[in-house]
Amino acid sequence: MPEVDVHRIFDRFAHIYDTGWLQRALYAAVQERALAELRALHPQSVLDVGCGTGIFAARLDRELVPGGVAGCDLSGGMLAEAAARSRGVGWVRGDSARLPVRTGSVDAVVCTQAFHFFDQPAAWAEFRRVLIPGGLALVGMINPRTEGGSRLLNRVSTATAKTRVNWPTTPEMRRLATDAGFEVTAQHEVDWRFRRTVPLVLTVGRAPAA
Ligand SMILES: C[S@@+](CC[C@H](N)C(=O)[O-])C[C@H]1O[C@@H](n2cnc3c(N)ncnc32)[C@H](O)[C@@H]1O
Repeated sequence: MPEVDVHRIFDRFAHIYDTGWLQRALYAAVQERALAELRALHPQSVLDVGCGTGIFAARLDRELVPGGVAGCDLSGGMLAEAAARSRGVGWVRGDSARLPVRTGSVDAVVCTQAFHFFDQPAAWAEFRRVLIPGGLALVGMINPRTEGGSRLLNRVSTATAKTRVNWPTTPEMRRLATDAGFEVTAQHEVDWRFRRTVPLVLTVGRAPAA
């Protein structure tokens, strides 16, 4: 199957991405859950990886860390929408596997509904690199209940999107994070619209203290 670069898909899709029903159905619940976790942390700086059109990063800038939020995405089209949304956030184009961010410079990394597109071991390693010692990474995504479910969803969504997509189970997600040196402190199931069909889980990992 010929593969399409993921940023090209989102470049094409960017102008309709902010449709209200899509946001409510797929993205709002996990952002709400991640925001609640971040509030308890009182971070001074947050990096949103795979920030898309910047809805969540802009909200973090408004409600949690004014002037302390950066949003990173591979798609120039999505970032153009993001830049029009907020001037308070630092928008940067980059790949989750090679984040254009200084080592040990952010208190928290957040990633909602984007991790399935990433090179996942490389992304966890990058989250660890950019976080301060003891910093938190919060990754919200669909984690199928079984390995069979994961294989099926990977096949169907890779064929549909024409780009490689990977949805690990919750234990697999935990293993990916611990392999990169994180302590997984929680895996919260998010109350979202499709919860009976597929769980959406927010995995919270703490980087080593030093
Ligand atoms: C479904 S959107 C989610 C956007 C946003 N996080 C939200 O919750 O609305 C996925 C985003 O991940 C971005 N993306 C995919 N692969 C990426 C990568 N390797 N590095 C950075 N961003 C990536 C896409 O360009 C797209 O904007």
